[in-house]
Amino acid sequence: MARGDLLTRLDEAVAVVRARAALQPAIGVVLGSGLGAFADGLDDPVVIPFDEIPHLSASTVEGHAGALVVGSVEGVPLAVLKGRVHFYEGRSLEEVVFPVRVLGRLGVRTLCLTNAAGAINPTFQAGELMILRDHINLLGNPLVGPNESELGPRFPDMSCAYDPELRRIAQRAAAAAGATAHEGVYVAFTGPSYETPAEIRMARTLGADAVGMSTVPEVLAARHMGMRVLALSCLTNLAAGASEEPLDHREVLLVGERVRSTLIEILTRVVTEASEEP
Ligand code: HPA
Repeated sequence: MARGDLLTRLDEAVAVVRARAALQPAIGVVLGSGLGAFADGLDDPVVIPFDEIPHLSASTVEGHAGALVVGSVEGVPLAVLKGRVHFYEGRSLEEVVFPVRVLGRLGVRTLCLTNAAGAINPTFQAGELMILRDHINLLGNPLVGPNESELGPRFPDMSCAYDPELRRIAQRAAAAAGATAHEGVYVAFTGPSYETPAEIRMARTLGADAVGMSTVPEVLAARHMGMRVLALSCLTNLAAGASEEPLDHREVLLVGERVRSTLIEILTRVVTEASEEP
């Protein structure tokens, strides 16, 4: 497919969103497993199911009901992706990052992503949070292929993918919410099987603190477009090999549910403070 087509598809998607939602979002939010409730708390929400947006495919995973919700929190206009598409669902990486690119074309300059992740760092506990400081990408790169220069450069810099000021805001927000927020390195595997204990030992040796199956493609696409990025992991479980318990997606959803109100409080503070930034 010619890459010019990507711009056309993005324009078609953006046109549908603009026709339904008049609000100009300043900040984008991507909600991971079990965290969709944040979108339900927006003021004056316009809910656009993913399957009503051209070229945007709906997710099939339990806990990932897909919709773009445009609305505001404490007066800050937001575009929230409730649910995401994962590479492990059999979608191309271009499909995985399409919704984030739609946000970028809508004018979103700051993107906050959330995910569920397994804790690798032995000092981390299930139920705590991790603010991503950096990542290790073992999932594949959505920027492979001819570069669409209208979106961004051929070789985007990743030396500071996660904005330091947004990380400071998130740290303050977590402290105010009484939550433990570590900072660390997220490693992305393709999934959908959870990792083996040997893979987790490898990831720990490589310097990873938490493991998941998402986020990194979206971060790459957002940085390509020059957006400021913050990503928060809800550590829903200890990574494989660290506990006697087998890993279970239902447990991931349950822990996500438990820390949900804290995460919503943190996200609310982050978006209001981030909107005050230059
Ligand atoms: N591994 C990968 N992805 C995850 C995990 C995990 O342990 N927990 C939540 N998402």
